[in-house]
Amino acid sequence: MNKLIILASGSGSNAIKIIEYFENQNDAVVSAVLTDNRHASVLDKCKALDIPTVYFSAALFGSSAFKDLLNSFHPDLIILAGFLKKIPSEVIVKYPDKIINIHPSLLPKYGGKGMYGANVHKAVKENKELESGVSIHYVNENYDEGQIIAQYKVDIDIDDSVEQIAKKVQRLEHLHFAPTIETILKNNG
Ligand code: GRF
Repeated sequence: MNKLIILASGSGSNAIKIIEYFENQNDAVVSAVLTDNRHASVLDKCKALDIPTVYFSAALFGSSAFKDLLNSFHPDLIILAGFLKKIPSEVIVKYPDKIINIHPSLLPKYGGKGMYGANVHKAVKENKELESGVSIHYVNENYDEGQIIAQYKVDIDIDDSVEQIAKKVQRLEHLHFAPTIETILKNNG
């Protein structure tokens, strides 16, 4: 049984989709959701689903105790789902090809520092893009630059508002993130 841990800072809609997806099959289980935001609404949602949660402070995140915290779950995959902080390089070294992130654009477009949430979709609209989408990628030392595992595209109409673009992209995230994780786990043997 593969053990997954999810890092999330906010609403956690992707985290919840992943939890629900793996509840219905026997290959993997979400062992815990970790957050750097004690007010993240994902915490209440996890409580309702009986999923353990851990809040960690900024001080702990920057220390080696954070690595110990991750290690204590013996994770097969660490999933960033709306987690905004940069992962320390000693953690990346410890978990080669075992940390993945989801990003709401077709990387390498609209990635990097400051490119999150509505900022991404605003930039897509401003540039009159005709498509956007989702990238699932390995995490390396640089924001949104790790090797891309999978991308899913959606058409953008010129009249789409930023909110409509966000909705289209989120729909793709909810549809594809968990099955892509399942494929990654299968490929990792
Ligand atoms: C998603 O758009 C994801 O691509 C990005 O952060 C957002 C998280 O949304 N990395 P949610 O908290 O899962 O609803």
